[in-house]
Amino acid sequence: MALKLGLAAIVVAGVVTYTLGLGPFASRLEAVAENQGKALIGGPFSLVDQTGKRVTEADFAGRATLVYFGYTFCPDVCPTGLATMLAAYDQLTPEEQAKIVPLFITVDPERDDVRAMASYVALFHPDLVGLTGTVEETDDAAAAWRVYHRKAESETASDYLVDHSSFTYLMNGENEYVTHFGHGTTPEEMAKGLSAALAGGAAG
Ligand code: NI
Repeated sequence: MALKLGLAAIVVAGVVTYTLGLGPFASRLEAVAENQGKALIGGPFSLVDQTGKRVTEADFAGRATLVYFGYTFCPDVCPTGLATMLAAYDQLTPEEQAKIVPLFITVDPERDDVRAMASYVALFHPDLVGLTGTVEETDDAAAAWRVYHRKAESETASDYLVDHSSFTYLMNGENEYVTHFGHGTTPEEMAKGLSAALAGGAAG
């Protein structure tokens, strides 16, 4: 009898311990399940476009966005990346283009003011939106997209390069990550990917 009671006590203690322990674990599992399929890339932002107007992700709601981070002084990577992105955009039908906005977000707002962004984006495409802001605002946007960027050492204060990652991100109409394209992607490949995503309802 004493042995049976002892065993029962151990079982009860075990169940209580297990149940108490499972609480936080179960909510962690729920949190993981909730994030599944939603890559943690991108997020809300508040920036200024090349006309000087403040914009947030809400201004693009219902349209997909194609997002590229870089800077206007970039000697080669950004011009190539943006040229590819806009060449892909140009291969879309007018109906597809109406569902997607190409965005260029600077990681160098100290030099890329509204004026610099306006003349730079005009070189690529009339539909390209250039976004800048305070250092904090563009840093926040870059952090949300997990974009690496770092000023390289330079001889003068104004003549510096910025190392940065160079992916092109496709976000859906709710500013959620859909996919990304690497730097070597051709315009044809990107256009194909964009058409497929838009046909699949990416603009929402
Ligand atoms: Ni660049």
